[in-house]
Amino acid sequence: MCFLEFYFILAIICGFNCEYAGHNKPFGSHQDPVGKLIELDDFPDPGTFFDDYVIDSQPFIVKKGATKIPAFKLWTDEYLKSKYGFLNVTAEIGKKEDRAENLINPTMSVYLDMYKNSDIYMVYDVPRIMMADDLIIPKSLRCGGFLRNLQLLVMWFSSGGTKSVLHSDSIDNINCLFDGELKSQVEDESNNWVKNGAYSKVDVERVDMNIYENFRNIPWWHAIMEKGDCLFIPKGWYHTVWSTGNRNLAVNFWFAHLLRFDDEDCNNNFIKDDTPLSKVYSDDPKSQRQRKLEEYRSSLFEPFIHAEVINETHFDEFMEEAKQYIKEPREYLNELLKICDTNHDSAIDWEEVFQCPIENIKNFELLFEDTEIKRDEL
Ligand SMILES: *[C@@H]1O[C@H](CO)[C@@H](O)[C@H](O)[C@H]1NC(C)=O
Ligand SMILES: *[C@@H]1O[C@H](CO)[C@@H](O)[C@H](O)[C@H]1NC(C)=O
Repeated sequence: MCFLEFYFILAIICGFNCEYAGHNKPFGSHQDPVGKLIELDDFPDPGTFFDDYVIDSQPFIVKKGATKIPAFKLWTDEYLKSKYGFLNVTAEIGKKEDRAENLINPTMSVYLDMYKNSDIYMVYDVPRIMMADDLIIPKSLRCGGFLRNLQLLVMWFSSGGTKSVLHSDSIDNINCLFDGELKSQVEDESNNWVKNGAYSKVDVERVDMNIYENFRNIPWWHAIMEKGDCLFIPKGWYHTVWSTGNRNLAVNFWFAHLLRFDDEDCNNNFIKDDTPLSKVYSDDPKSQRQRKLEEYRSSLFEPFIHAEVINETHFDEFMEEAKQYIKEPREYLNELLKICDTNHDSAIDWEEVFQCPIENIKNFELLFEDTEIKRDEL
């Protein structure tokens, strides 16, 4: 059986009665899972996806959701070799992720000859032309603004046995499994066991409960993905993914968090069930730049999502948290007002947020400490 296992965890500080169950055992051994993730028969339509899953930060699995993607059937080793053998791919040395970034760049053809017998793991940005001919965009992302926010597609390919660190991503993620087996685990950003930003240094195969105290009592969710299933992982959910089997192949879609659903876009949407991704998702620098700017818009305004308007009052509420990743919070508000406050009332309403000229958002790049998408391994 090919499957993905996910462990979704909310960290809870351990109380007086800590039992160090799971000490020096694989993550998830400390207690039973809270339950299984929601399983759906099909991708929700874009509006439902936005309301019920993106905004509510609710992960789910779509059973057989990947089987409609042509690559699911097409991407045999033989096909990949004959059609894409000349491409230079990127692979990590070592199937157990350590974030050391030991990379090699064999051709697809060379990779295919060696992966069954090597400790290597292809983590490769899918080229928009060529390989994207074999992909379609999951139904949930076809309109409403998701496509404008689509940042990155990555191919994960190995002979199984990969183990990622426990980490979260700063953007939303749909991962589709074409072949093989994987496992994963998750934890909460707000907890102090998370080191180095978006990932934990804990050894997920052997959790030291003496050092990682906050792991002693973390509730977690269990998700199993069989071959052909897709999984939605909202940003901020910590997880690890472990793969098993002898051929493991997945492609994931990373898209910046959508703040508002664009109904208009759905009225004008002509993406059909069989429209190849390469037709709707361009590699040209201008489109890439636009999508990057949408990601900045999302990062800039997401902290205020519950505020009626963005003004000094709401900004002060946000400031404490903002200090972690914004160099000059006050300057940040002034910049926002300068660019987006079109009616000059010292507040930015949500209409202004989305009309704020996207090109100007690049002015904010300098105010962020580090806003690059972390290519976190699933
Ligand atoms: C792959 O890399 C080699 C060596 O760096 C280069 O000469 C070749 O043009 C690259 N091929 C492709 C398809 O990018
Ligand atoms: C900011 O907006 C809120 C309404 O969301 C309002 O109550 C508050 O007075 C405003 N603050 C300032 C400084 O204008």
